[in-house]
Amino acid sequence: MTTLPTVLVTHTLPDGWLELLQDHCRLIIGPPDANEFSSDLVAHLGEAEGIYSLLTIQISAETLSKAPRLRVISNMAVGFDNIDVAACTRRGIPVGHTPGVLTDGTADLTMAILLAAARRLLEANRDAREGRWTTWSPTGWLGADLHGAILGIVGMGKIGQAVARRAHGFGLRIVYCDSVRRPEVEKDLHASWLNFNDLLQKSDFVCLHVPLNPDTYQLMNADSLKKMKKTAILINTSRGPVVDTLALIQALQENWICGAALDVTDPEPLPLNHPLFELDNCLVVPHIGSATWNTRRRMAELACENLLAGLEGKHLLYTANPEVYRD
Ligand code: DGY
Repeated sequence: MTTLPTVLVTHTLPDGWLELLQDHCRLIIGPPDANEFSSDLVAHLGEAEGIYSLLTIQISAETLSKAPRLRVISNMAVGFDNIDVAACTRRGIPVGHTPGVLTDGTADLTMAILLAAARRLLEANRDAREGRWTTWSPTGWLGADLHGAILGIVGMGKIGQAVARRAHGFGLRIVYCDSVRRPEVEKDLHASWLNFNDLLQKSDFVCLHVPLNPDTYQLMNADSLKKMKKTAILINTSRGPVVDTLALIQALQENWICGAALDVTDPEPLPLNHPLFELDNCLVVPHIGSATWNTRRRMAELACENLLAGLEGKHLLYTANPEVYRD
């Protein structure tokens, strides 16, 4: 009789989402809302051959050192900044992630919060419910136009491009910056490349679509926020630490910029008494870019496929550290 490999799943997931693993692994499943490895799971690290993780779980070199049999990690997210990928690479452990399947969902949410901030939907909804809608006021809840405005996309990868496609429908003009120029994208999406500073100075909306890494950590800080137009809105659906939270609070309080729409924050979750929650010009939603039933299920399945491939010694479908496969 062959023994099935032990796989730690850091969170409880809905019925059926792990179906692909069922017959192939011995699953040890963590609690629903974990923000760290639960102590139950830590006790099983020694026998784990696979880890199926969510982005809220930090997988450090120290955690890895407790898992001598580990052969694959599969993160149910496109981002993998929660994992010490370099430490995995040193051990030859491939790290799976889930690009592609959440591109449209995240781009939709980006447009949703951009629109909500531009047209002040939160304030308008709150005022309507709280009795401040007393008449049709010519100057009530005035916001910003999208048509004719300039959208600056920082990071023109899959999600940035999907946002650009949607933005055309609203009449926005697209500028972008990225670590590389993308001539095909410029042609297809009628997008013009600008350097970061010029993009900040020219854009009416600045959307962040970069991965979190040492180069992008606090990319939006006091200096860069001060370069934005006073009328501009910052939209972040990438990772919270791409923005310096303290600088953003000051920018919003002192009107260096007009507003912000955040799907991601630093820290996450934001404590209830956080200053960002006090600001009418800041919209915050709880990291829901990929939160549609179909998208999350496809992320879960892709993470299962990556995990199974790793356990079978095959290349993962999507690997954060493809260098593990080089001789
Ligand atoms: C990811 O997958 O990295 C997103 O932030 C969550 O959907």
